[in-house]
Amino acid sequence: MKGIILHGGHGTRLRPLTHTGPKQLLPIANKPMSQYALEDFREAGITDVGIIIGDVYPEKVKEYYGNGENFGVKITYIYQDKPKGISHAIKLCKDFVGDEKFIVYLGDNILRKGLIDYKNKFEEKNTDAMILLCKVDRPSSFGIAELDLESNTIKKIIEKPKEPKSDLAVIGVYFLTSKIFEIIDRLKPSARGELEITEALQLLMDEDGSLHYDTVTGWWKDTGTPEDILHANKLVLDSIGKENQFVIDNDATIKNNIVIGKGTDISSDSTIEGPVIIGANCKVGSNVKLGPNVSVGNDSTLENCKIENSILMKNCKISANVYLSNSIIANGSQIEANNEQTKHELLLGERSQLKI
Ligand code: TTP
Repeated sequence: MKGIILHGGHGTRLRPLTHTGPKQLLPIANKPMSQYALEDFREAGITDVGIIIGDVYPEKVKEYYGNGENFGVKITYIYQDKPKGISHAIKLCKDFVGDEKFIVYLGDNILRKGLIDYKNKFEEKNTDAMILLCKVDRPSSFGIAELDLESNTIKKIIEKPKEPKSDLAVIGVYFLTSKIFEIIDRLKPSARGELEITEALQLLMDEDGSLHYDTVTGWWKDTGTPEDILHANKLVLDSIGKENQFVIDNDATIKNNIVIGKGTDISSDSTIEGPVIIGANCKVGSNVKLGPNVSVGNDSTLENCKIENSILMKNCKISANVYLSNSIIANGSQIEANNEQTKHELLLGERSQLKI
């Protein structure tokens, strides 16, 4: 079986963070979000992986993942000139896939339990497609599957229904065979100009009647917005100390639910309330209060600040008297504050400089 990670798109809802790189490289608990998908493939024994790269700094994706050997997989890059839809991206993989079954994983999705069980199920089944469904709180914001409860099959998939008939969202992991290519060839661009995956699945279901599904146990997160990213960060950090499934840095120390990278120096009069992850070679100076739910990237320096529910990427410097909550601060940003401490919620692109 082969794996495909979708690493294209424009990530407009995440600007300014996506002005300097693709959203799928933004870190969740100090690891690029698409690496969760790559590791799920590797753990499921899928080591031949295609990555669709788009027109937002595709060279940064190649630079990070290379030929895949550092990640235990073999990577083939497939270029999509514009985000013309998920079905369009899949179509570009026809030669890469050949006649094998394959799994398409959106690079901004994180699946708590990985792929192994679902992959085994798909391998056993004689079906052209299988999708995963997950219960969601706001079904009108998702592609929703309507089920026929008697036959236990999917009747219909409706994109963002005004009056949802179920709360089961179709998540961004699709189990497919080469049958999908002839279906996609017959699609027309939708109103937003994209070849839609929901339309391809619906057509497959109408013609073939063989769209199987499984429901996701454990959480699933689509990280399209800043709020989603902070929520995903919390969900991943919550597992630290319990199973460490998501921790990547083998040199780091883990104490209860706090991960501290190699070479990181923490002042004795700082307070850390987990779950928190701090990268390598950071300096956590005096009077710092960190946590809960905070990720700090490598080479960052913090002094006199209070930070909760936030992501600081690499090489950030926060000096003096600032209180950050629900914030995402991109690589190389600096914040200086001279005023009395007040709470801020910030979304800062790379190398921002803020004096408050
Ligand atoms: P979306 O979140 O639907 O689109 P986007 O990433 O461009 O974000 P925004 O809506 O904020 O502008 O895409 C879902 C996933 O599929 C994401 O990982 C990007 C990927 N994708 C492609 O690789 N190619 C495409 O043509 C599209 C539409 C998405």
